[in-house]
Amino acid sequence: MKAQIRPWKNEDAKALAYAANSDKIGATLRDGFPFPYTKEDAEQWLSFNIGKEPVTNFAILATGQIVGGIGFLLKDNIYRKNAEIGYWLAEPFWNRGIATEAVRLLINHIFSGFDIDRIYAEVFSNNPASMKVLEKNGFQLDAIHRKSIIKGNHILDAYHWAKLREGL
Ligand SMILES: CC(C)(COP(=O)(O)OP(=O)(O)OC[C@H]1O[C@@H](n2cnc3c(N)ncnc32)[C@H](O)[C@@H]1OP(=O)(O)O)[C@@H](O)C(=O)NCCC(=O)NCCS
Repeated sequence: MKAQIRPWKNEDAKALAYAANSDKIGATLRDGFPFPYTKEDAEQWLSFNIGKEPVTNFAILATGQIVGGIGFLLKDNIYRKNAEIGYWLAEPFWNRGIATEAVRLLINHIFSGFDIDRIYAEVFSNNPASMKVLEKNGFQLDAIHRKSIIKGNHILDAYHWAKLREGL
């Protein structure tokens, strides 16, 4: 399914809270993604992001509707040529190619607009769908950080997937 990404807008709070309100989304993300995801949580996210330069967090849209979020973090010091990406999608829209398309759009945006040579993502070992999204976008598995994650009561491995700027 065709996806678009665009910066968050003030009027997105209701649609964001609706899309994000599932306990399955935060289960494979770092702690902090709320459940239940209220309109107040959405407003807090929007006020944190709107007006910030550069824009690093985007809404994912499919058929004009907000269905998820995607963003990146510019790293610093010796890692300043790296950007880490993260993304999530509303559960009813899983397995339709939307995250794959959103990641493709984001990596084009990063490589064309920033002095970044390496884009990476850290995926929990119990998240094969996300690894597939990265693989379909030309990412390679660089490392497995064994038992580095604790999520709830579960100890998990972290899979580090990376894509280098073309020609490097
Ligand atoms: C991970 C996530 C973003 C994937 O989004 P999506 O739009 O469903 O992804 P896509 O449809 O583009 O691709 C998913 C691929 O994984 C495959 N897949 C799904 N479940 C799978 C499983 N259990 N085992 C193996 N492959 C699986 C799909 O078949 C698809 O591959 P295909 O196109 O070759 O058939 C979504 O599940 C999500 O938001 N999860 C919660 C948050 C999260 O984990 N974010 C990423 C953190 S690193």
